[in-house]
Order: sequence, then C-alpha cells, then structure tokens
Amino acid sequence: MGSKVGAAEKVRMKSLKSRILKMVKPTADELKSATYHANEIIARLKAVAPKNVEIVTAGSVARGTQVRGSYDIDVFLLFPKGEDERSMEMRGVALAKKIVDKSKKESFIIKYAEHPYVKILLEGGSISADIVPAFKIKNALDLGSAVDRTPLHNEFVNAHLSAKQKDDVRIFKALLKNHNVYGAEAQVRGFSGYLCELLIFYYGSFESLIGAFSRIKIPAIINIGNKTEVDPKSEQGTALLKRFESDFLVIDPTDVNRNVAASVSKQSIAKLVLVSKALARKPVIEVFNGVQYSSTLAKEKLLDFQKAMDFDIYLLAFSYDDIAEDIIWEQLTKLRLRINDLLSRNGFAPLQSFQNIRGGLCIAAFFINRIYNGCSIRRGPSVFMGDATEAFLKAHRESLGLFLQDDRVISLEKSEYADPEMLLLNLKSGRDFTIPSHIRPASRFVYMNKKIPEEHARLLYEAFEDAMITVF
Ligand code: CTP
Ligand code: MG
Repeated sequence: MGSKVGAAEKVRMKSLKSRILKMVKPTADELKSATYHANEIIARLKAVAPKNVEIVTAGSVARGTQVRGSYDIDVFLLFPKGEDERSMEMRGVALAKKIVDKSKKESFIIKYAEHPYVKILLEGGSISADIVPAFKIKNALDLGSAVDRTPLHNEFVNAHLSAKQKDDVRIFKALLKNHNVYGAEAQVRGFSGYLCELLIFYYGSFESLIGAFSRIKIPAIINIGNKTEVDPKSEQGTALLKRFESDFLVIDPTDVNRNVAASVSKQSIAKLVLVSKALARKPVIEVFNGVQYSSTLAKEKLLDFQKAMDFDIYLLAFSYDDIAEDIIWEQLTKLRLRINDLLSRNGFAPLQSFQNIRGGLCIAAFFINRIYNGCSIRRGPSVFMGDATEAFLKAHRESLGLFLQDDRVISLEKSEYADPEMLLLNLKSGRDFTIPSHIRPASRFVYMNKKIPEEHARLLYEAFEDAMITVF
C-alpha cells in the first residue's frame, strides 16, 4: 500500500493530521455539554414514556465520532415490534413534543426523512437534539422501519473502532465537509457519518483511506462484515452490482441487504478521488481545507467569469412549496435537466448548468454561448419512405425553403426561439413539459447576466464554486 507515497509525505501527513485533530476534536467543555444535554433529554423522555419503550443515544455523539461544533444529539425511542409503523411514529413524535420546555425557550420542528422525527432546539438553538422513533430489533432481518438499524450501527462502531480510528473519522468527516461531499441528503449526495466510520474501519486509518481512494476504480464492492472486496467482474460481483443498481457498494455489516453508500453520487466519489490524489501528493492544510466559498461579491465574480468566457448566463428563479428540501432538490434536478434538453434541441446547448435552493427560493442557471438562431432545420423523411415525404411537404407547404439533402427532404424555417431568453420566457408548463408539482410555475422569473439579483447570484455562485475543481 502507498508504494508511491514517500517517507517525507508520510511524515507530513502525520503532522497535518495532528494539526487538524486539534481543530476537529470536540473540546472537553463541548463533550461535557453534549453528555449533559443527552442525559437531560433521556431523563425527560423516561419520565413520559411507557416502560416498554427503550431510550438510547445514537449517532456520532454516542460513538465519539462527532466533529467539533456539530452538536446534534441523536436520541432513539425504541418501541417493541408488533405495533403498526405509522402509529408507532405518531406515538414517538407525541412523546418527543411533550418534553420541550417552553419556559427555557426551547422549540421543536417535526422533520420528515424516510421517517418522521422531532428536532428540539435547546440553549437558544445552539444545541439540537433529534428524537427518532424506531422499532427495537436485535437483528437487521427483523427490520420494521428504515431507522431501526441505528442502534446496531452504534454497537458495531463501538466494538470495532479504536479511539484513534474514531479521531480519524473526525478528520475524514472534516475533509469531506470542506469539500462539500459530507452527508447523504439529496443536495449533497455525499458520504454519511456511518459510511465514514465504516470506511475508516475498513482501510484502518485516514491516510490508508486517502491512499486507497487516490487509486480506486469503480465499480467497487466493499464487504465491511468480512473485510474483503468482491471482484466486480466475478459472478457474485456482477449479481451484487445489478441487485443494488449501484457502482459503489459498501455493504452494511449489520445488514447485508443494505448498501450504506446507496446515496453517494458518482460525482461525489470523483471529488473524493481528486482530493485524495492531491492530498497524497501534497499533504498540506490548503488541500485539506479546499477553497472556501465567500459570499461577498458573488455577482461580481460571476460576471467576471462570464465576460472572460464570453458566454451568457441565464437564470430561472422559482418559489417552492414548504416541504422537505430533499424533495424540492430532486424536483429541481428534473426540471433543470428538462430545460437543458429543451435548450439543446433548439440549438442552445448549455455549456454548464447549475441549481440551488434556500429559504423558499430555487434557481436553475445555464451558461450558454452567444447564439442567435434566425432559422432552423426541420428534417423530413427519406423519399424512399412511402407517402411520408408527400405528407411532410404538404404540411410544410408554407415553409420559406424546402430542399433535398441526399434522399431526405428538409425545411428551413424561422426559429420558434431566436435566442435562449425567448425560449425561457415562453416555457409553457404542460406544453414543453410539466413543471414538477412543488415548484410554482407562476412564480417564475428569468434573468440574464447583469440583471441577476445579488441573492440569486449568491446561490448560483455557491453551486458554481462547488462544481469547480481547484488544482493544487
Ligand atoms: N442513519 C442511517 N441512515 C441514514 C441516516 C442516518 O442509518 N440515511 C443512522 C446512522 O446510524 C447515523 C444515525 O442514524 O449514525 C444518526 O444520523 P446523523 O445524525 O445523520 O449522522 P451521524 O452519524 O450522527 O453523523 P453527524 O456527526 O454528522 O451527526
Ligand atoms: Mg448525528
């Protein structure tokens, strides 16, 4: 392993790690505060919950893999199996709501992941606790709801990772956060906390993981339970790839039916590969930190880029319904790809496109060359295709120019849209495609270059910077 990495790099990596650990390991005060609040919440829940409901802490705080400043405490309410899932969730949410102390200015939000849970904000919002209802299971085969495995994850991580490896998890999470690929949510499609823990366990240390990812090939299949890789070309490998419909499989040691990396996008893996290559060659803080997004002058920087590249930026803005951002993000992705396609079919293929959402505003933006299409070609059938040619000629009788091109008839016509702006302004929901249900078509605005408002420019710039590769 790491044959290409010299002794000097190893020493530099070691000193980089200790420097980073000082920044990412929670302080003693922070750990004390997390324990205090976790115990407080458990005590309050015990006071209101029936005896047969078990209350446990889970997630990174319970495992000692949290990064400094990330105070989210995960508490699970484990109900005996047997009850209907929906009614179990409702009882759990009701119990969690009961323990919110309004006199201490605490508040809560009900969140919907695969599964509803309650987020309680304590100490003026600086500490948050997620109370998650689940079924109590001993074996993943007993699974009743999507989050039931979590206590099993706790057991696995606590039994198999040393204190040193847990610190390496923190370092790895911080690296992924810096490069915007931490978290499984739809907006990121990156590496979840549990996946980080499993990868550190599998490769043994942060530096081995980085070494391995700088050379990794996909498809890859990692079986954590027996610490082996399955050859993707083998019979077993081919079957697994097909079954999980993914190029990157990390099989959950607590449940062989689950790919822990299911929500990692190919682009997130690619980003980690690039960062790993750079870090293996040059283990320095600049590479570790990446380029941090600065929200000031977003518009100015975008316009500088636009002028230098000599293309136009078109930005579509919409408002959206107040529902889970994961759902909006997926709908926005669909919408952006449909518009991309429509633009391409009309001769305005975007060079790049981006999307982002925040606080009720979502944007899709397109970088497009300066193209003016006065006229476009409509291709008809071959003259050898029976009556089709006649029908085409008849239908295009009013055309300004009908021609033969080899054996096919073509019609030159004035373009429906001379430029992308015309197309975007005239997008018709229902005719061009259906605008997804939670994005409000009537709220649409189209902006170009200088006209893009600062708030919108900031959203675009964030997505733009995130997609940009820095060469170290
Ligand atoms: N979990 C899961 N599948 C998900 C999300 C969460 O199995 N899609 C489980 C994992 O066991 C995870 C726990 O729920 O450890 C808590 O989730 P979360 O707080 O998102 O992750 P943490 O591991 O606690 O990481 P962080 O430090 O970012 O809080
Ligand atoms: Mg957590």
